[in-house]
Amino acid sequence: MKTSPELIKAFFDPLETLLQEFTLTNGLLPADETLRSKRFLVRSVVPHIERLSSLFNREEAEKDSALEPYWKLGSNPANLRLAYFLAFMPTNAFRMASVFSELARLGFKWSGSETLRAIDFGCGPASSASGLALALKHCDIGLPTKGSWALMEQDAAILKMGTKWAETVFAHTGLTSWSTREFSRKVDFTQPLLPRTAPKFNLWVSSYFLNEHPLTPEALAQRMMESWKTHLEENGLVVLIEPALRLQSRKLLAIRKEILRLKAEDPSRWDFMQILLPCLGSQNCEALSDAEDWCHEDVSWERPEYLRVIERMTGMDRKTLPFSYLVLVRKPAKKLPAKDLDLSEILKNLPRGRHDRLVSPSHPEGSDWEFFTCGAKGKRRCRMKDRDGEEKPLRGEILCNAQTRGDRNSTRIDKVDARI
Ligand SMILES: C[S@@+](CC[C@H](N)C(=O)[O-])C[C@H]1O[C@@H](n2cnc3c(N)ncnc32)[C@H](O)[C@@H]1O
Repeated sequence: MKTSPELIKAFFDPLETLLQEFTLTNGLLPADETLRSKRFLVRSVVPHIERLSSLFNREEAEKDSALEPYWKLGSNPANLRLAYFLAFMPTNAFRMASVFSELARLGFKWSGSETLRAIDFGCGPASSASGLALALKHCDIGLPTKGSWALMEQDAAILKMGTKWAETVFAHTGLTSWSTREFSRKVDFTQPLLPRTAPKFNLWVSSYFLNEHPLTPEALAQRMMESWKTHLEENGLVVLIEPALRLQSRKLLAIRKEILRLKAEDPSRWDFMQILLPCLGSQNCEALSDAEDWCHEDVSWERPEYLRVIERMTGMDRKTLPFSYLVLVRKPAKKLPAKDLDLSEILKNLPRGRHDRLVSPSHPEGSDWEFFTCGAKGKRRCRMKDRDGEEKPLRGEILCNAQTRGDRNSTRIDKVDARI
């Protein structure tokens, strides 16, 4: 995914200083320590990072890969939370910011109401709200700078930490008219996700949340669609981020498939959401139909120095951040079914016509670049001439109106109108 150097800089210049101040002020870090202190990290943080990593990277072969609540595990839950906050919050915050940067890059403009009414399910330490606040100036889709975040989380302690952290970041970034509301509750996916009396929202996010539930993707999709129908405003945006691991990424692909199935099966009931990203269309997912395949993005970032220290201690490599994601928008219609708009009417930097996205890195093959693309014609192995002065095609890049020859196993791209 292409992220701008400004986004990376805006994100990381202030982050370590802010985290250092925040952890000291809130008594999370002993007064004489810094975030780079090897002695402190090795004793109090690294063992918990390793425990969390093995939970999050749990055996893919396990049939039921759901997670039991883990915030109270071990002898020192406070340090477990701190470990998540220092090692996983910044990465997920940047992933969320990257998706908004992608929306901005493609010319998406906010057309929801003037007051932000955001909700984050399983917010943990408010990674999504803080990430978006840190990056907002550099992924400008016109999101309102006035409004509130409903932070929903089953663990009261991580929620408290998240609320304080979000408020610190909002103040630091000048988003003084963004506020938070805490909802300390376990979301039950067998029930409506929000009480009938809950208000409507216009931004609905979750990050690394859906994979923790035992429900099938079909049941999760149905629950979310029911909730969006009642609690998502017209033009409201939904951003779901999940891990890049095969099983968890496929779960998100299966959720997409079920949403498309519901829309087609009963348009007068379900056809109110349009899928925007990463798939540029409503075609069947060919990654999903091959049991060994899946689909994910990858972003580069400049991580804060203390994270590099942690990486050297744990052997983790966070140079790039892989993840899977899905963005949907509620269509502006009073009556259903509401026809999907042409993508270029919503993503205004996309020219009309055919769009194929690179879903793999590219590598040189003789005088060509080789890579996989996905678009309305499905997933294809492609080759394109490596022309002087043209950049290497990147995962996530979009080829507009590609003129192609050959079949899905070997497609030659002769010409493209634009590479975005
Ligand atoms: C991996 S963490 C992700 C936190 C945050 N969204 C992020 O991206 O860093 C998943 C969070 O979801 C919360 N969670 C899982 N199931 C939940 C449920 N049923 N209701 C509320 N919160 C839940 C967990 O307690 C945990 O804080």
